[in-house]
Amino acid sequence: MIYRLARSVFFQLDAEKAHDLAIQNFSRFTGTPLDLFYRQHVPDRPVEVMGIKFKNPVGLAAGLDKNGECIDAFGAMGFGFVEVGTVTPRPQSGNEKPRLFRVLPAEGLINRFGFNNLGVDNLVENVKKSKYDGVIGINIGKNKDTPIEKGAEDYLICMDKVYEHAGYIAVNISSPNTPGLRSLQYGEALDDLLSQLKAKQEELAAKHGKYVPIALKIAPDLEDHEIVQISESLIKNKIDGVIGTNTTLDRTLVKGMPHCDEMGGLSGRPLQNRSTEVIRRLAEELNGALPIIGVGGIDSAISAREKMNAGAQLVQIYSGFIYHGPKLVKDIVTNS
Ligand SMILES: Cc1cc2nc3c(=O)[nH]c(=O)nc-3n(C[C@H](O)[C@H](O)[C@H](O)COP(=O)(O)O)c2cc1C
Repeated sequence: MIYRLARSVFFQLDAEKAHDLAIQNFSRFTGTPLDLFYRQHVPDRPVEVMGIKFKNPVGLAAGLDKNGECIDAFGAMGFGFVEVGTVTPRPQSGNEKPRLFRVLPAEGLINRFGFNNLGVDNLVENVKKSKYDGVIGINIGKNKDTPIEKGAEDYLICMDKVYEHAGYIAVNISSPNTPGLRSLQYGEALDDLLSQLKAKQEELAAKHGKYVPIALKIAPDLEDHEIVQISESLIKNKIDGVIGTNTTLDRTLVKGMPHCDEMGGLSGRPLQNRSTEVIRRLAEELNGALPIIGVGGIDSAISAREKMNAGAQLVQIYSGFIYHGPKLVKDIVTNS
């Protein structure tokens, strides 16, 4: 009820302004009596994935809290884990505005933010300040002006800095808004990146006396043989998990709707079936070798259960959270 009211006000605003205002208020309200607007009790539903204990299987997907400014607020809403980022080695402002659009009839969003963030050092400071007792995933990427041939260096810089502070590290090579990024998903480029990440993980595990799992985040716009190849590379390089999926470039399901021709990645309900299909194929190819975190268009307990039935051990939400608010977290934990 409160969320429906807040949503009707926020949806009058430009989408990015509404997003910024929400983030500001979350970080201001946390720990004050005003957090009653979103604080809720969510029952425990513990699960162990990638060797980590999660109090429930529902997480916040990357991109909503890019700088880790409101981790405690999302904790108060009952999320079992919060993935912050994508963060890059150096701060960057992202693409020109406007760059976030609602596709209302489909409960979709189109974004072309382009990794706007305040840089990895700032994010680490925010993570250190957080009192959240759930799992914090840190999602890392490359700066736009780093040539793609040197992309691996950016991931390694970020890994070095976030390792000690992360429950797990998500490696984002699937955003459509950083030119060339998705090319890292294929063939030798992927194998090369994953082997460097694995070597870095081993070095950092020895240095810090702590093993932090790595999960690779992939796109929904992959051919079947590409999913097979990615699965082989994940197994070969002993990567700990895979997150499927990021946003899609496909517009088939939103043709003719407002903003459907905006450039960028489409998320929300129009992505639901495609991302479930990718999870199903990953599950077949991986055959239990590593766990899958399912994300894409989850808007109810039923659609979360579909992801789990397809092979996901954990799920994440972003667009569904924008359209339905914190009650979606409780609904999925309780009923999926
Ligand atoms: C506005 C917006 C910004 C996003 N930014 C990121 C990001 O920085 N890093 C990332 O890995 N995914 C990012 N995503 C993708 C989401 O994490 C998620 O994979 C995708 O939206 C599908 O889930 P959904 O349908 O529940 O939104 C973003 C999504 C949206 C809508």
